[in-house]
Amino acid sequence: MSKKIFITGVAGFLGSHLADKMLASGHKVVGCDNLLGGYLDNVSSEVEFYQYDCNFLNSMVKITKDVDVVYHCAATPYEGLSVFSPYLITKNVYEITASVMSAAIQNNVKRFVFTSSMARYGTNKVPFTEDMEPKPQDPYAIAKYSSELLIRNLANVHGMEYVIAVPHNIIGPRQKYDDPYRNVASIMINMMLQGRQPIIYGDGEQKRCFSFVQDCIQCLEKLAFQKDVVGEVINIGPDEEFVTINELAKIIAELLDFKLSPKYFPDRPQEVKLASCSAEKARRMLGYKTKYNLRQGLQEMIDYIKNRGPKPFKYHIDVEIINKLTPKTWKEKLF
Ligand SMILES: NC(=O)c1ccc[n+]([C@@H]2O[C@H](COP(=O)([O-])OP(=O)(O)OC[C@H]3O[C@@H](n4cnc5c(N)ncnc54)[C@H](O)[C@@H]3O)[C@@H](O)[C@H]2O)c1
Repeated sequence: MSKKIFITGVAGFLGSHLADKMLASGHKVVGCDNLLGGYLDNVSSEVEFYQYDCNFLNSMVKITKDVDVVYHCAATPYEGLSVFSPYLITKNVYEITASVMSAAIQNNVKRFVFTSSMARYGTNKVPFTEDMEPKPQDPYAIAKYSSELLIRNLANVHGMEYVIAVPHNIIGPRQKYDDPYRNVASIMINMMLQGRQPIIYGDGEQKRCFSFVQDCIQCLEKLAFQKDVVGEVINIGPDEEFVTINELAKIIAELLDFKLSPKYFPDRPQEVKLASCSAEKARRMLGYKTKYNLRQGLQEMIDYIKNRGPKPFKYHIDVEIINKLTPKTWKEKLF
């Protein structure tokens, strides 16, 4: 049966793909985005779109009327930057969750799906499993985990269903590629397409496991409807194909036929060498299975960025704290 789905951050990467998936499944989609991130042309013309900030509680209450499921994807998802811009980032993660939750409860929304982050696991041992006690270690992770606690509390008090999704390192077309603070693969593609050498923090031997958006979106969709996921935390993303950042740069350079000679900069504070989540629970509960390998995912991103054209980077978020720990790349706008 067709449902009314509300998506915050609908002009963003995950929000817009989720909107398309929901529309294709025959649902009505309403969404908001303040365009701090994302791109307006990510939003399908079939979405009832409002350019609102989630912190406008009165507006949130108005536009979540008769909604069945809220997906709260809006955020400033900048983990590395969050120790330098803690005010903006926590406000845009925690406070907006309180606003969207309040609106959803006021309108008796049935289910609230929150996109948390693997940053919530922080200093736990890898691979991260959902039963681990979160140990967030930076303002972004603290704000995400605090949001989860807030959601759990309010949902339990007011009798609303909720699910906590933990997407991790998802890549694909529509990711903001002119953003100097996040999305390493998109940044590298954008730089190499401009004929510039990519910038790598540390020795580049930090390992990551990327997941292609089309492999994850079905899992996210199921969180709106499946009965057994209520109250669960579920990692969304793969645990199969690990690469170092050096290898990632090499693969992109190969795909672009680019002569690679990366520029190395000092590590960012608290950057972890290996971050990975177990996908066992998603396989078991959501039938998660990967179809795209890393090269295929990167090729789709290259096609998307080539098609829109490479762009200069926009420093759209102020760095609040500038001191000796602040990466030179942001202080001196080197991207
Ligand atoms: N993509 C990933 O790999 C990944 C990994 C972990 C967590 N997440 C989480 O998933 C969600 C979506 O991530 P994404 O990669 O699509 O990010 P994104 O930056 O592409 O999308 C977020 C959107 O939220 C909007 N937004 C920010 N603050 C807002 C506000 N106050 N009001 C309204 N809109 C606002 C931005 O303009 C942007 O379009 C985020 O909550 C993020 O923390 C994503």
